[in-house]
Amino acid sequence: MNMPHMTCVSDLRARARRRLPRFVFDYLDGGAGSEAGVRRNEQAFDEVLLKPRALVNCEARDLSTPLLGRTWAAPFGIAPIGLGNLIWPGAEPAIARAAAQANLPYTLSTAATTSLERIAEIAPQHCWFQLYVARRDEDVDDIVARAERTGYQVLMVTVDVPLAARRLRDIRNHFTVPFRITPGVVVELLRHPAWSLGTLRAGVPRFVNVEKYARVSDRRSIAAYLTSEIRGGFDWEALERLRARWPRRLVVKGLMTAEDSVRARDLGCDGVVVSNHGGRQLDSAPATIDVLPSIRAAVGPAFPLIVDCGVRSGEHIVKALAAGADFVLIGRAMMYAVAAHGPTAAGPLLALMIDEASRCLGQIGYPDVVSLKSHAPFVRRTYGSNYGL
Ligand SMILES: Cc1cc2nc3c(=O)[nH]c(=O)nc-3n(C[C@H](O)[C@H](O)[C@H](O)COP(=O)(O)O)c2cc1C
Repeated sequence: MNMPHMTCVSDLRARARRRLPRFVFDYLDGGAGSEAGVRRNEQAFDEVLLKPRALVNCEARDLSTPLLGRTWAAPFGIAPIGLGNLIWPGAEPAIARAAAQANLPYTLSTAATTSLERIAEIAPQHCWFQLYVARRDEDVDDIVARAERTGYQVLMVTVDVPLAARRLRDIRNHFTVPFRITPGVVVELLRHPAWSLGTLRAGVPRFVNVEKYARVSDRRSIAAYLTSEIRGGFDWEALERLRARWPRRLVVKGLMTAEDSVRARDLGCDGVVVSNHGGRQLDSAPATIDVLPSIRAAVGPAFPLIVDCGVRSGEHIVKALAAGADFVLIGRAMMYAVAAHGPTAAGPLLALMIDEASRCLGQIGYPDVVSLKSHAPFVRRTYGSNYGL
């Protein structure tokens, strides 16, 4: 098999942009409102600096990281992405397989286009399930029971979608699933034959995990069902009930404050994903790396904190750990890789991130994740200052 040649995530993004129909690339790349939040996430990571220690033997480096009952090969995993197979046919099973082979966790979205049962077969020890809580309790109970039955060890409940966001690129493109065949869409399909033929062969992706709850057969109504299910009514009491219902590890995704994270911890959650949904919900959300240190200080050293949003390199992963995270999720970075080079790119992308993180650890003089976290050699640039160095 020809291994795709990869230099960095921004090259992959550029190639993904060329290979995808515009409405698909915009769905992946875009965010809410002006997209300042998307840019802020990434820029904030770039602006964090790491203080190197010299004369530490770093010839052998160990990235292995314990989290939520397992030891993973490296301190990161795959974030849940809805409509993964729309971004490239076969993306979801290929990424799950690559994650399992690399001993990293793969999070399947409720809005994924591969069944949770199939992903559990592909990556039985490495799959986490991300839950969007539906309106009807019996639907929530059923999907949670399916995740439990098929062996998912971690349930990640996303709480930062109280309302549908206004994503202007999607609005301009009239983005819907299944997509409407307008003249503009036909032009895009013809200009991107690899994607179009692959999608034709695989079939237009469907929300297979929630179809049964929509109680309608037409696909457009199923998409409308998913939107209508977005539930601002999901609150702390409902989270408490979910905690009581799910017997394994429960992680809350989408908290951005110390108060909420402490409350989630005290309610019995096993971890928090500090996340602003990749800038796709609230344009004015702070960058996650900026709020992380205060959240870590509030929840204490032992409570599992995962962070995502704007992570584009292994060096960003190291910065997240230095700022207080135990673990990182990569979202768009993986999807750019798969869109750029097809599903076989999933493994090489993981290898690239591991290599970058490992080199960064070596450059700053920390041979493993434990020593890095105990020193936290991170400096946050305060605007206009001399970095406090
Ligand atoms: C195309 C796309 C679809 C997403 N779908 C979901 C989803 O279904 N559930 C969820 O919890 N988060 C979803 N997210 C958010 C990601 O899980 C993650 O928080 C975000 O992508 C991290 O930011 P990054 O892409 O800058 O790494 C999605 C993000 C993107 C880009």
